[in-house]
Amino acid sequence: MVSFLTKDKRTHYCGELTLSDLNKEVILMGWAHRRRDHGGVIFVDLRDREGIVQVVFNPDAGSSVHDLAHKIRSEFVLAVKGLVQKRPDGMNNSALKTGEIEVIVSEMEILNESKTPPFSFDDTEISENVRLKYRYLDLRRPAIQQNLFLRSRLAASTRHYFEQNGFIEVETPILGKSTPEGARDYLVPSRINKGTFYALPQSPQIFKQLLMVSGFDRYYQIAKCFRDEDLRADRQPEFTQIDVEMSFITEEDIMQIMEGLMAKIFKDCMGREIQLPLPRITYRDAINRYGKDNPDVRFGMELVDLTSIVKDSGFKLFKEVADGGGIIKAIKVEQATVLSRKDLDGLKDYVAVYGAKGLAWAKINSTDWTSPIFKFLKPEEIKKINETMNSKEGDVIFFVADSPRIVNDSLGNLRIHLAKKLNLIDPDALAFTWITEFPLLEYSDSEKRFVSTHHPFTSPFPEDLPLLASNPGKVRARAYDLVLNGSEIGGGSIRIHRKDMQAQVFSAIGLSDEDARSKFGFLLEALEYGAPPHGGLAFGLDRLTMIMTKAESIRDVIAFPKTQKASCQMSDAPSKVSVEQLMELSIKIV
Ligand code: AMO
Ligand code: AMP
Repeated sequence: MVSFLTKDKRTHYCGELTLSDLNKEVILMGWAHRRRDHGGVIFVDLRDREGIVQVVFNPDAGSSVHDLAHKIRSEFVLAVKGLVQKRPDGMNNSALKTGEIEVIVSEMEILNESKTPPFSFDDTEISENVRLKYRYLDLRRPAIQQNLFLRSRLAASTRHYFEQNGFIEVETPILGKSTPEGARDYLVPSRINKGTFYALPQSPQIFKQLLMVSGFDRYYQIAKCFRDEDLRADRQPEFTQIDVEMSFITEEDIMQIMEGLMAKIFKDCMGREIQLPLPRITYRDAINRYGKDNPDVRFGMELVDLTSIVKDSGFKLFKEVADGGGIIKAIKVEQATVLSRKDLDGLKDYVAVYGAKGLAWAKINSTDWTSPIFKFLKPEEIKKINETMNSKEGDVIFFVADSPRIVNDSLGNLRIHLAKKLNLIDPDALAFTWITEFPLLEYSDSEKRFVSTHHPFTSPFPEDLPLLASNPGKVRARAYDLVLNGSEIGGGSIRIHRKDMQAQVFSAIGLSDEDARSKFGFLLEALEYGAPPHGGLAFGLDRLTMIMTKAESIRDVIAFPKTQKASCQMSDAPSKVSVEQLMELSIKIV
């Protein structure tokens, strides 16, 4: 038999046929999504990446075609030739783009058969384990295909933007040197240099700085990054960054270029206009007002510090916490009458996860409160709290008293939990915020010393330099994150390009010259050969795609993702290797 594929070419995608194609003879290729046999006429929903079209096998098409149609089962691969016709009156399917037409088949070939798939593509409740094991089938589902189409448009739009703005795409090595960068490295043993290891890059950070030293001036790369860290809904062990570095610039230039990128990709991929410039908030304000450095600003319910009002409270716990250097903060849920007493009491278990030892609440009535702490508080305290919180009858206030870290953490997360539970978030909103003025260093209780918040090449504010020796925790970094709808979609900084400043920062984190040399000597050396002032940023491309597609999990925007346990259900990676392979590498498993 002469195959369609050698004789004729496909003329259309299934999902793109409309009334405008009426009476055309078309050749389609795709998968049998569904087959219905109406005793005589056989209907097949033929599917390809553009969608589904109904193809019709009439008994008068000739017995060879009709008999063959009887053999079609789910996911058989078909080629059909036929005429586009209007569906009979009353038979339109408004759920399908192609719902007004059907294709009356004159010739058909089964290009391949299929085993019965382990799940139905229409089922939305399939376990993720099964989906990931048969990922190639899971990827046939239109919803997930759409995610990957959007991801592809996002990458194309990004490349277009950077090319137009004079950026050069440079690839950097995947086999690199292990350098301390925050997360754990994935290591690759070297066969030729026994006993030594490459590390997969956590990001192209050092290489992109070296490219600035080399004079490329504007670099970008859509780069694979690898981090061996605990996984979450928005974290994968290998993920993709839109990585950027620029020379002779300040943070303003970088933010402006990045805002332009955001405007372009949201316009190109979603047809959305983004209002520029994007709002900014300092790290300090973000923590004070939202309890987090990745605040979701799509809704209010900000944290309010009540410490000064309740420091001499009649409620002993508030007084004790304030006396001990802790703080008391509150959030207010407006018109929260749907929250039952059981709900209110139950929320203390929610904040306990963040270390809070309790959660006090108050339901605002017309003259008093319903609250477990009402009887302890003095009337003037209640009055002041009501004024400060601007509380109205029907509102509910939640209080946490503890160390600043625990208070901000628990109320910051409770705020988001409640907003989700009470549907206070507009699902279509796009709320961007830059977070600026991060602390350069943070104290590590485990290491008993200051460590870099970002990485040790991040530049401090020059005016804060004198604080490096006297009050290191107060030094601000020239670092910035971009947050969208409560998700950190990107971050970067102005780098240190001068040796003297680098030495001061190393000394503040207790890194000796010798240590620094052995860890990232090649970068330090490069900085001594006329490094220009430079800085950059990297966006998480997977996270951006998640937000654009409203995906719940990062796995829904990656073609072949890893599970929460960093393994691939389909290929079984990581897997054992042969003793011979290990011997070649001089590696013994203990
Ligand atoms: P950073 O570590 O902040 O910066 O990473 C930049 C962005 O990458 C995304 N991201 C991740 N996405 C998915 N899974 C992960 N495991 C993961 N880790 C990070 C986030 C984050 O904002 N070299 C610096 C950038 C710079 O300074 O220029 C860096 O890697 O969206
Ligand atoms: P108690 O007197 O211990 O029953 O506490 C009275 C109320 O204060 C209860 O509603 C507790 O949940 C709440 N509470 C206890 N510890 C804290 C805390 N650290 N911050 C806020 N409220 C608390």
